[in-house]
Amino acid sequence: MNNDIEEILFDRDSIHQAAQRLGKQITEDYAGKRPLVLSVLKGAYLWTGDVIREIELYVNLEFIKISSYHGGVSSSNEIELVTDIRTDVAGRDVIILEDIVDTGQSLRFLKDLLADRGANSIRVATLLDKKGGRKIEIDADYVGFDVRNEFVVGYGLDYKDLYRNLPYVGILKKSIYTKD
Ligand code: PRP
Ligand code: MN
Ligand code: MG
Repeated sequence: MNNDIEEILFDRDSIHQAAQRLGKQITEDYAGKRPLVLSVLKGAYLWTGDVIREIELYVNLEFIKISSYHGGVSSSNEIELVTDIRTDVAGRDVIILEDIVDTGQSLRFLKDLLADRGANSIRVATLLDKKGGRKIEIDADYVGFDVRNEFVVGYGLDYKDLYRNLPYVGILKKSIYTKD
């Protein structure tokens, strides 16, 4: 599995440090509030575990599952809501946890959904921000790392539902996805 990686970009330690930095900032920004942390499956599951442990507040935790890449290297441009939450978000301060913001379409979908349901505020904390991949204008509020326009896997991010368990984020060798 490690042989399929061209270059390691962010290792476990640096990701942990990013989680600490963001968690501290979120703790300050939401002082006195009880935010609803909304983790976006599958990609954000590891990052979620890191970040929530750095937030020193009462929080609720929910998981929503959406899909647009269907395991491939490019967005289908259509977001599928695979598993919804049951919690009422009306009046809630929602912090979306994402592993990556790329085209921005998944985030747009989620923000629209939450706004429609009456969330009081919506912010986004993402491990990776691939600004060069944007198809629509949208920004994350808390960013672990900016990442260049390469297809990356690991630490939750997949190709064909694989590589999510790599303990780092790295660039997938092009030969892996051009041969398929
Ligand atoms: C990936 C990633 C983000 C989203 C970002 O999810 O985890 O959720 O795409 O891409 P975008 O900004 O271009 O919309 P994916 O659809 O691969 O589902 P997964 O998290 O289950 O892998
Ligand atoms: Mn995802
Ligand atoms: Mg994926």
